[in-house]
Amino acid sequence: MGAMIEIQNLEKRFGDITAVAGVNFSVERGEVLGFLGPNGAGKSTTMKMLTGFLTPTSGTARIGGHDITADPIAAKRLLGYLPEGAPLYPDMTPESFLLFIAGIRGFSGEEARRRVADVVAKVSLQGVLRQPIDTLSKGFKRRVGLAQAILHDPQVLVLDEPTDGLDPNQKHEVRALIRSMQKDKVIILSTHILEEVEALCSRVIIIAKGRVVIDCKPAQLAAKSKWHNAVRVNVERDDAQRVRASLGQLGSSTIEELESANGCASYLVSTADRRPLIAEISQRAQSEKWKLDGLHVEHGRLDEVFRELTTAKN
Ligand SMILES: Nc1ncnc2c1ncn2[C@@H]1O[C@H](COP(=O)(O)OP(=O)(O)O)[C@@H](O)[C@H]1O
Ligand SMILES: [Mg+2]
Repeated sequence: MGAMIEIQNLEKRFGDITAVAGVNFSVERGEVLGFLGPNGAGKSTTMKMLTGFLTPTSGTARIGGHDITADPIAAKRLLGYLPEGAPLYPDMTPESFLLFIAGIRGFSGEEARRRVADVVAKVSLQGVLRQPIDTLSKGFKRRVGLAQAILHDPQVLVLDEPTDGLDPNQKHEVRALIRSMQKDKVIILSTHILEEVEALCSRVIIIAKGRVVIDCKPAQLAAKSKWHNAVRVNVERDDAQRVRASLGQLGSSTIEELESANGCASYLVSTADRRPLIAEISQRAQSEKWKLDGLHVEHGRLDEVFRELTTAKN
């Protein structure tokens, strides 16, 4: 069997604007794919095509083997979708809205009520069930959106910025919910929050100007940082000059003086090939008896990699 999601040469133009310029990727069961990119990169447009809300200009996508344009009903049956901003019917209450969605998904009577009760518990909506959606806080609106997306226990979940605009506690809850569902589903979520990718995703795709610029594991992304394996050396001020000179003897390294507090000097040592330096440096520190205040290995800065990949002139 092929991958649960297969996207082939997906392209969308709005007049002169090319929002998505030929995107290709597949996603397997058990993967949580973080879809990253700056504003306007084409994340939402890709998700709208994948979920059948927009017709591609060219190319196609398949969900569980069903083509989204040739066989949209079968594809949508497998899909739950949280659109950007979670648009909802403002006059309805969460309860009536979810019962309505249950009906659309083909459930009725006891089964529909059981499904609704189930998702209400999952996303903690008990307190606001009979309140018009219009009057709910942003966090609760998102949860209603999530509830409708998972009501039919879909195999594929497409979540467009699921934690956007939520406070830290609400973000934490939504992430926990996503994590609890990842085992038996395929999940694609878009975000601009880099830590969210590290916390949740098994894979990350970054798009910029409608094109995929990288497809890798979150840890590999950090390894692309020019500071991956760099070592931060904090040393007492009166020993700084000697240590600085010794660091200068490490092969082909760059030394950057960082701002520092509490009477210490701080250097960041890195090499162009990002080779590990910690062993050499700690050896020198010991044999030369540096007045050390700390040694830290940098794993890499995701924000720097993100900027590098999404602002390249092309
Ligand atoms: N309906 C539309 N009509 C015209 N341009 C659009 C439309 N929807 C999106 N775009 C444009 O397509 C590009 C990608 O948008 P979008 O997919 O929303 O990006 P993202 O979700 O990554 O922020 C943007 O330049 C946006 O202005
Ligand atoms: Mg968007």
